[in-house]
Amino acid sequence: MAPKTHVDQKLYCGKINEEFIGQQITVYGWVQVKRELGSITFVDLRDREGILQIVFNPDFSDREILKRIGREFILMVEGEVIRRSSPNPELFSGQVELNARKFTILSESELPPFFPENRHQVSEELRFKHRYLDLRNQKMQKNFKTRSQINLKIRNYLSDLGFLDIETPVLTKATPEGARDYLVPSRMYKGKMFALPQSPQIFKQLLMISGFDRYYQITKCFRDEDLRADRQPEFTQVDIEMSFARPADLIEIINGLMLDIFQLKNKKNNYQFKTIPYQQSMNEYGTDAPDLRIPYIIRDFNSTAVLLKSNILNGIVKNNQVIKGLVIPDSGQFSRKNLDIINQYCQDLGGKGAIWIKHSDQGFKSSLKIEPADLEKFFRANQLNKSDMVFLIGDETDKALFLAGKLREYLGRSFQDKDRLEFVWITDFPLFFYNKEEKRLDSNHHPFTSPRLEDVGLLDSDPLKVRSIAYDLVLNGVEIGGGSQRIKDIDLQKRIFELLKLSETEMEEKFGFFLKALKYGVPPHLGIALGFDRIMMLLTGEESIREIIAFPKTTSSLCLLTGSPSSVSEKQLLELGLKGMDPAFKRSNK
Ligand code: AMO
Repeated sequence: MAPKTHVDQKLYCGKINEEFIGQQITVYGWVQVKRELGSITFVDLRDREGILQIVFNPDFSDREILKRIGREFILMVEGEVIRRSSPNPELFSGQVELNARKFTILSESELPPFFPENRHQVSEELRFKHRYLDLRNQKMQKNFKTRSQINLKIRNYLSDLGFLDIETPVLTKATPEGARDYLVPSRMYKGKMFALPQSPQIFKQLLMISGFDRYYQITKCFRDEDLRADRQPEFTQVDIEMSFARPADLIEIINGLMLDIFQLKNKKNNYQFKTIPYQQSMNEYGTDAPDLRIPYIIRDFNSTAVLLKSNILNGIVKNNQVIKGLVIPDSGQFSRKNLDIINQYCQDLGGKGAIWIKHSDQGFKSSLKIEPADLEKFFRANQLNKSDMVFLIGDETDKALFLAGKLREYLGRSFQDKDRLEFVWITDFPLFFYNKEEKRLDSNHHPFTSPRLEDVGLLDSDPLKVRSIAYDLVLNGVEIGGGSQRIKDIDLQKRIFELLKLSETEMEEKFGFFLKALKYGVPPHLGIALGFDRIMMLLTGEESIREIIAFPKTTSSLCLLTGSPSSVSEKQLLELGLKGMDPAFKRSNK
């Protein structure tokens, strides 16, 4: 329990309501607006909890100083809480106001480049340069309050289940998670680098080997990769690992945690957690992160496309490509212009376009030249309704599924209600994928993921068919977590490294310390990491994780506030042994 002091009694503008009427109070806050109404002055005073109207009546003594008050000044105001003659139902404090007796200007403000309440009217660049003003916005204050509360909820939930919060190093060695590393040059050992962790993966496994059978950490991870709305170069994971448990146990724990977190959105707490194997997800949704709010499922039209007697479609099938498609009820909603936009959308994604078929007053029609009678046969063979709209996409299997998946999301936008939450676990991922650029296998998750025991035999004969004991948690089409059962056997771990084309020397260089640990008693263990920022984005209904990270980077990985990354002095470069390394580096650090 924190000690009871005056700090404990801090009153927030946004928390003052009718219960305070008649009380003498002191509040602190920023001036959002000042209004003069004859000889009465009103100030909307804002703090992290909201706004309180302050009224300076005609009998107020310090009228001269009052004139000096400008927007974003910080005031300390003392006075009596009184009932407001014209209530503002939009404010928690809207029934009352503070009749000022005394006030002090604690800090003045220059005219800011934008006012926090108008943040949506200015560019992200301007907001990021003055993030401290941007963060004064009421919604932003609420987002970070929620983030802090959820952080605590997670800690309490995991702690109650016996998970220990243990910190792992930030200056460390590369941990492969599929992105580039951020490197930190060592001054003491010139030419050598620390890597910032892409995740604490290896350390959490070492903690299991150390005997801490339930670990968690809410921690920063660093990945140098292309950014999107749900990706930042430094982001926060809720990282979890446990020994002596099955994937089903971990999944149960995480489902419980999700119920706890998302209770804030839906008090009934009646979320369903579906499970879909990876291959089914790819076939039906064209992605391993499906948005299940959208009711459409990708269909296969390979066998029935022949009924359309189209040279184009027959050519696709003959070329061993596939015809995938979507059936959308109510073709009436698609105007000719819409259909052209949809076709263009598919072409912009690198496809050949989307062929459409529908029935209208003038009978069956298609974007391809096809006899109406054949279109009708096609509808009948596929048990379609006359009101259905059909889109067909022909391409190589992976591409056709990708395009159909994107089209599914595009056509299903109206279903993406932010208040509806659809969780799904995607399981049975292939252990590897083929990295065409590097002409070798790559891990779908990371190299410590266990193959399914019944598939281990395929490691030599057909490694791309090997499935892993891995699971991703997806919410509304966003991957919010991923984890797996880990390899605990040194020979199997080495075999995986070999398949990833790591030589004995590289293995020793990169992972020798870890392989050694696998010799000294390894408990069966598994784990997961949840993307905390993404969870917060979905919980608060934001479109980007930049809205729930206090000081985010731009989409081009810059911190506009501090102006980093930035050049460093010649002296520092010399100390780090970096001087003279790369001409480009030298140039940018002149
Ligand atoms: P993974 O790489 O799937 O797994 O990461 C776990 C979760 O972290 C989130 N995430 C990100 N969030 C914001 N910006 C990023 N750049 C970013 N990258 C990932 C996602 C993702 O699901 N060590 C494994 C976990 C394990 O096996 O236990 C790992 O890091 O929500």
